[in-house]
Formats: sequence, C-alpha cells, structure tokens
Amino acid sequence: MSKNSKKIIIAPSILSADFGNLEKEIQDIVAAGADWIHIDVMDGSFVPPITFGDNLVKIAKKNCSLPLDVHLMVVDPEKHIEAFKNAGCHSLTIHVEACKDPLVTINKIKDAGLKVGISLKPATPVSQIETLIEQVDLVLVMTVKPGWSGQSFMPECLSKIEKIHSIIKQRNLPVHIEVDGGINKETAIQCIQAGATILVAGSFVFGSKNRKEAILSLKELR
Ligand code: DX5
Ligand code: ZN
Repeated sequence: MSKNSKKIIIAPSILSADFGNLEKEIQDIVAAGADWIHIDVMDGSFVPPITFGDNLVKIAKKNCSLPLDVHLMVVDPEKHIEAFKNAGCHSLTIHVEACKDPLVTINKIKDAGLKVGISLKPATPVSQIETLIEQVDLVLVMTVKPGWSGQSFMPECLSKIEKIHSIIKQRNLPVHIEVDGGINKETAIQCIQAGATILVAGSFVFGSKNRKEAILSLKELR
C-alpha cells in the first residue's frame, strides 16, 4: 500500500524512444496514457554521454500537451534555464552535485515561472539536500547511476526514498518524490511503498510490446 494518497504519475523517459521516429514515438506514448514526458539532458561532462538539449523539448511541445519534465544532468545548469523555459518545459530538475550554489539555481528556476526539482545520485546522501527539500516541487531520487537507460535498479536507494518521505511528512510539505532508473512493475511497487509518487520509466515502457498495458500496470500498483 502506498504511503500517501497522492495520485501516481507515470513519466516515460524519451531516452529509450526510437530517435528515427521521434514525433511518432511521442504521440504514441501520449496515446498509451503517459502523464508526463521525462526528458534526460546530458552534457558529456556531468555524465559521460551527450544526449540532446532544448531542441528536443521544442519537438515534444509541438507533438503533445503533457507536462515536459526535464532532468538536467549537466554542470552549471543555471546557464540553461532560459532556453528550456522558452522551449516550453514544465519542470526543470537539477542535480545537487552539479551546481555551485543549488539554492541560487533553484530560485532562478522558480523566478522563471517553472516547477523545480532537485536530484541526487545514488551515492549522494540525503543530508546534502535536506535543507533544500522545502524549496522545491519535487525530489528526484536516482535509483541507477545517471547516464544510461536499461540499468538495474539499486535497492539500496529505497532507504533514501523513505528518509526523504519522512522529512516531507514531518514538515508537511507538498513535495513529490520522483524515482528514476530501473523502474518496472517489481521495483515500482517498492518505490511507491517507500513514498514515491512519480515514476520515470524508460526501457520498461518503450521496450514493451504493449506500451498502454505497461503504463497501466504501473498506474494500478498503488
Ligand atoms: C538515466 C536517466 C533515466 C533513464 C531511465 O540517467 O535519468 O531517466 O532514461 O531509463 P530506465 O527506466 O531504462 O532505467
Ligand atoms: Zn532521468
């Protein structure tokens, strides 16, 4: 049973889509029942791979009206706020490990009129974001090493979700916990039980023969 009454939001990660048919893939995932679209931006510096930038957000915006949930795996994310805002994203999540002063960046994102998230790598302790939790709309807990889709879920991250959930509850904050990496039916239920309310799923959804069923199977978990 889930720890709270919040609706579970399913955010398929476009990283696992077929890039040769990107517009069709976006339309397909909307038809399959996605709530948000998760967009993984990587700069080759914060993480080894390079993916895409605000140009992809523009393409997604043209093809759907769902909230576009941008996960910035880049150093100095404050340099890119304006571009992603102009491209039409809904939320911008930054990594606590990636900026000099995360609070300053968080405030700049809020000033731009966007929802803001703070993320932490599996090895980063919750203590590093503890004072930031009340400043954000969501905390994105990485449950794999950032950089690649298709990795196995790291169960040691569950205790971090529980810890963040208890802080949110104690302080009575309207903050979501989003989980990202290795999410499937089995791991999603564990995350929901620990307090997660937003599930990012890349390979599980895009790799399913029936994406609608895959999304439904996650929605039905709580
Ligand atoms: C990894 C990305 C994830 C990735 C998840 O750095 O942040 O969003 O696409 O892919 P799966 O669900 O396949 O682990
Ligand atoms: Zn992500």
